[in-house]
Amino acid sequence: MADISTRFFGLELKSPVIAASCGLTSSVENIKKMADNGVGAVVLKSIFEEEIQHELNQELAMRQPQGGADDEYLDYFDYIIKEENLKKYLALISEAKKAVDVPIIASINCISSAEWISFTNKLEKSGTDAIELNLFIMPSDLSKSGKSNELFYFETIEEIKKHISIPVTLKVSSYFSNLAKMLVDLSKTGVNGITLFNRFYMPDIDIEKEEVINSGILSNNTDYLVPLRWTALMHNKMDCPIAATTGVHTSKTMIKFLLAGASAVQVSSILYKEGIETIKRFNNDLSAWMNKKGYSSINDFKGKITLTGNQSVKAFERVQFMKQYGEY
Ligand SMILES: Cc1cc2nc3c(=O)[nH]c(=O)nc-3n(C[C@H](O)[C@H](O)[C@H](O)COP(=O)(O)O)c2cc1C
Repeated sequence: MADISTRFFGLELKSPVIAASCGLTSSVENIKKMADNGVGAVVLKSIFEEEIQHELNQELAMRQPQGGADDEYLDYFDYIIKEENLKKYLALISEAKKAVDVPIIASINCISSAEWISFTNKLEKSGTDAIELNLFIMPSDLSKSGKSNELFYFETIEEIKKHISIPVTLKVSSYFSNLAKMLVDLSKTGVNGITLFNRFYMPDIDIEKEEVINSGILSNNTDYLVPLRWTALMHNKMDCPIAATTGVHTSKTMIKFLLAGASAVQVSSILYKEGIETIKRFNNDLSAWMNKKGYSSINDFKGKITLTGNQSVKAFERVQFMKQYGEY
């Protein structure tokens, strides 16, 4: 019988299928269903610094006393709103922990490190098994150098790791100028895993209305190719395990990621499209494939595709179509 357990978040997981942070992981009912279907871990919907800041601004706009607000007043509402949001989040963690015996991972999205230190302390006390830092700076500010953007990641990780003892993982984008070096450097910060790559809101344009529209919340089944390339290129260069996210819509795609060197996959869109039961199907398909191949554990084949010879690695490094499609 194939053993499909794996390690990520510094934890032993029953399955490499992780429910990625999204709306579905905000309810205990869904989390129970995920656990019943054999999920390896559940990452809660991120608590967003920006969202809290936005609420704070709205509240202030409504309540500002005539003549303007003084600093004490601003601080008071800042404190109350942050506390309220955090309380709800902490309640979700403790209810989820009571309801299931799979790891529950808190996810925080921070745009400035200082604010989050006290929050992460509270998250740790609430019983979360690990914290995923959903870090992203859109590198579009011309006044900022690449170096200063990168520094934010290292400073945030360092500060947060100083204050808590539970595992910390990162979920990052591919928006770095020297991606390989950045990933290796991030993996040396003592984090317990890095997830490649988060998917973001992507604006599109409606040419009839001449308006900006949303290109679609959910991923497509070919979106996995970018994280697959980088998983294959990076898995044996990093000091921490990799989980892959974006476009994992089939159990075959999950197996590709494991062969490329990922320890786990984080799925979201397919759970919206085909239901939470998809997790069970992925687990069963993985066991069946491992039995067919004679593998007893994930370590028997993890990263195999890039270990069998340099040719496979070279395929992931190649970017130009010239030779492959010369006849087109
Ligand atoms: C509706 C929705 C909400 C999401 N919210 C978050 C979030 O709060 N934090 C986060 O790190 N990722 C969030 N994500 C990204 C997912 O966790 C996941 O990494 C991404 O969608 C790629 O995986 P997929 O192709 O399986 O959807 C969200 C995705 C969806 C579809």
